[in-house]
Amino acid sequence: MTSPTPTHPAQFASSDAAAPASDHSLLAPPEIDSDAAAIETPALVLDLNAAMRNIRRLQHAANKAGVKLRPHAKAHKCPDIARLQLAEGAVGICCQKVSEAIPFVAAGVRDIHISNEIVGPQKVRQLADLALHARMSVCVDHVSQIDALAMSTDAVSAHLGVFIEIDIGQHRCGVATLNEAVALAKHIAAFPQLEFRGLQAYHGGMQHKRGFDERKEMAAQAASRAAEIAQGLRDAGYPCETITGGGTGSAEFDFASGVFTEIQAGSYVFMDADYASNDYVGELHFEHSLFIAASVMSVAVQDQVVLDAGLKSMSVDSGLPWIWENAQRSTSFTYTAANDEHGIVRRVDHSGSTDDATSGELAPFPSLGAQVMLVPGHCDPTFNVYNRLVVIEQERVAHVWPIAARGMSW
Ligand SMILES: Cc1ncc(COP(=O)(O)O)c(C=O)c1O
Repeated sequence: MTSPTPTHPAQFASSDAAAPASDHSLLAPPEIDSDAAAIETPALVLDLNAAMRNIRRLQHAANKAGVKLRPHAKAHKCPDIARLQLAEGAVGICCQKVSEAIPFVAAGVRDIHISNEIVGPQKVRQLADLALHARMSVCVDHVSQIDALAMSTDAVSAHLGVFIEIDIGQHRCGVATLNEAVALAKHIAAFPQLEFRGLQAYHGGMQHKRGFDERKEMAAQAASRAAEIAQGLRDAGYPCETITGGGTGSAEFDFASGVFTEIQAGSYVFMDADYASNDYVGELHFEHSLFIAASVMSVAVQDQVVLDAGLKSMSVDSGLPWIWENAQRSTSFTYTAANDEHGIVRRVDHSGSTDDATSGELAPFPSLGAQVMLVPGHCDPTFNVYNRLVVIEQERVAHVWPIAARGMSW
């Protein structure tokens, strides 16, 4: 008797068996010193020199203002990038989740602020364990979070820094009043293993306001609210050693505020398309350093080409990627739609334009197989879909770095 052909899924071996992991890292990484134009796509690519200029520019501005820089590692999830930031003078890093911090501690980062509230016994216990290896801190905005931290740190004899998060206008997390902040500071003081370090005051919505003056005005209001609460805490006997917050869109105002002692910017290293859409007037201009390398996979339909990088190769929550051509945003082509695995590219519609430069011959579409570079709309969640970062210098592959905290979202 012949055995039946295994067509029903239940007849196949369980994936618990020694099957190869279905992981796109199985695609061989590009060879070091190979031509960047030959990278297999989709791939996440970093222009190292541009990234270093951005890292140095913000660090220099922080040093000049006498404010510490604690870059947010949620932007990249990559210990090798944190290493560069620390080497330039960052005092430590921020992570948004306990799990996100694990690979950074493993890589040797010794000062990490979890810029978020943490709930759940396993996570709180893991945080206490990390505090045995690194100087750790975390945010709270409720007494029950403090109780949980006190219990987990007590269990392993760990010491943990605690920041009270205040709401300076975003209405996401954080207490809104001085009375609430004082009550939390008093509760923290009841536990010797917890150390009250100050305030976290972060306003995410402000970062992406396009107008320079609008951001400046919102940053001033946010800083003055933080100053008021810090003064009230001081008067109540709870001085704030650190006031931490700020991001890429508000950094220059936060440096000048005289209120923030530490800035948490993250995206400045990469300058995604969303952040590049802000107006910048002051000193802090950053360059695009992060790209998605894609390939033209189909030219079958007229007046468009299709790329092999769609929704599963990038985040589009802050807008579609830009096409990058000749070191600038393409004026000829635009990425018009992200299907799951397809990116649709059409011509920019110049009808109605009076610009002479756009009225000549139409640029030819890139040909089948051609590499196309994209500037992602939002860097943080785009990093989260890649296992590795292809780092290029002078058009050659210089490094391939693991995005070690990719998927670490608990
Ligand atoms: C708590 C916190 N701090 C800082 C940042 C700053 O990050 P970026 O400079 O990338 O906007 C963020 C970003 O969302 C954040 O949530």
